[in-house]
Amino acid sequence: MYDVQKVREDFPILHRQVHGKPLVYLDNGASAQKPKVVIDAVANAYRNEYANVHRGLHYLSNLATDKYEEVRGKLKCFLGAKHEDEIIYTTGSTMGMNLISYGWGVPNLKAGDEIILSVMEHHANIVPWHFLRERQGIVLKWVDIEPDGSLDPQKVIDAIGPKTRMIAITQMSNVLGTVVDVKSIAKAAHEQGVVVCVDGSQSAVHMPVDVVDLDVDFFAITGHKLYGPSGSGAVYIRRDRLAEMQPFMGGGDMIAMVTKDAVTYNDPPHKFEAGTPGIVQMIGLGVAIDYMTELGMENILSHEHSLRDYAQQRLHGLNWLNIQGNAPGKGAIFSMTMNGGAHAHDISTIVDQKGVAVRAGQHCTHPLMEFLGVTSTVRASFGLYNTVEEVDKLVEALELCHELLG
Ligand code: ALA
Repeated sequence: MYDVQKVREDFPILHRQVHGKPLVYLDNGASAQKPKVVIDAVANAYRNEYANVHRGLHYLSNLATDKYEEVRGKLKCFLGAKHEDEIIYTTGSTMGMNLISYGWGVPNLKAGDEIILSVMEHHANIVPWHFLRERQGIVLKWVDIEPDGSLDPQKVIDAIGPKTRMIAITQMSNVLGTVVDVKSIAKAAHEQGVVVCVDGSQSAVHMPVDVVDLDVDFFAITGHKLYGPSGSGAVYIRRDRLAEMQPFMGGGDMIAMVTKDAVTYNDPPHKFEAGTPGIVQMIGLGVAIDYMTELGMENILSHEHSLRDYAQQRLHGLNWLNIQGNAPGKGAIFSMTMNGGAHAHDISTIVDQKGVAVRAGQHCTHPLMEFLGVTSTVRASFGLYNTVEEVDKLVEALELCHELLG
C-alpha cells in the first residue's frame, strides 16, 4: 500500500511554506525535490568519503571510486540494461543527447541522411540534431501529433524512408504527458535498419523502464528529475552502438595512452567520461534510484495515475481552462491556457502567491508550441509525493486567477 503521507515525510522541503502558505510543489517536470536520504548521502560523501575517482590509490580515492562506480550497477538494473558498460554517466539528458549526436551521429551519418523527430520533442532532443543539420547536411523529418496530443506510432513508422538512419523520440512529453509507444516504433525501425534514440527524461521518473524489452539503441535519463542531484544523469547505449562511436570530450580518464603524436582510448564506459566527473552527484543519484526502487516504480506509476485521474476530473470541470493534450494513458502532467488569453506568467505568479509552484512558458518546446498554436502554457507536473489535496489547491488557485484575469 503506497502511503503518500509517509513518503512526504521523506522530503524536508515539502514542509516549508512559501508566501506564508504550505508549499504545493507541482513543478516536478522541471526538477524534482530530494528525499532526506539523498541530501544526507551527498553531505556524507563530502564530509567523510570524498576524493577524486579512478586516480588515486589511497584509501579515500578507492572508497569514492567504489561508491561512484557502484551506481552504474544500480542504473543498469533500473533501466533493465544487460551490461554495466552500456551505462555512460552524464550531467543530464542534454549532455546525453549531445554525446549521442557528436559521438554517434557525426561519424555514422552523412549529408542527406534523415533523422525523424516528433513535433513534441524537448529542445534537448532537437538542437543536437540541428547541429548535425547545420554542420553535415542531415535532414530533420518531423512527425505531427494527433489533436488529442497522442503520437500515432504508425505515423512515425510511415515516415521512415530509404534515407532514414535514426528516430529520436521522447517516451513522455514534458508538456503534454503523452506516453509514446516506443516499443512498436523501435521494432519497425530496427526491421529497416534504423537506430532508435529515446529521451527518457520524463518517462523514467514515472514508469518502469526496460531498455532491452523496448529494444532501443540509446536511452537518456537525467538525475535531477529522478529525485537525485542536479548535474547527474546517464545514457544507456547498446554495446554495438558504443562500438560505432567516437569519443565526445577529450581529457583525463578517457584515454589509454597519450604521446606527443598519438592517443589511444580507454574502453567504454570510461572512453565517454572525460575529466573529473560529478562524483558526489552520481553517488546521490544512486541513492535516489534505491529510494525509487524501494517505493516500487509500479507503485509510483499507480499513485500518479490516481492523481492524474483526479486532476483530469477537476481541471476538465473548469470550462474556462484549456488542457493541452489528453492522450489516453498520459502521465500526470497538465499544460493549460485560459480562455480570454491571460498570460501564463501572470497565472503562474498568482498561483505562486497561494504557495502553488508551477512552470509557465514554452517548456523548451518551441516546435510544439507552434503546432499547438499557443505562445505559452502553464504546466502543473506531479511527482511521487503529490496528493489529491494538492490538486484541489491548484484548482482553487486557478479559480482565483480566473476571477482576477478571466
Ligand atoms: N525539461 C524541463 C522541463 O520540462 C526543464 O521543465
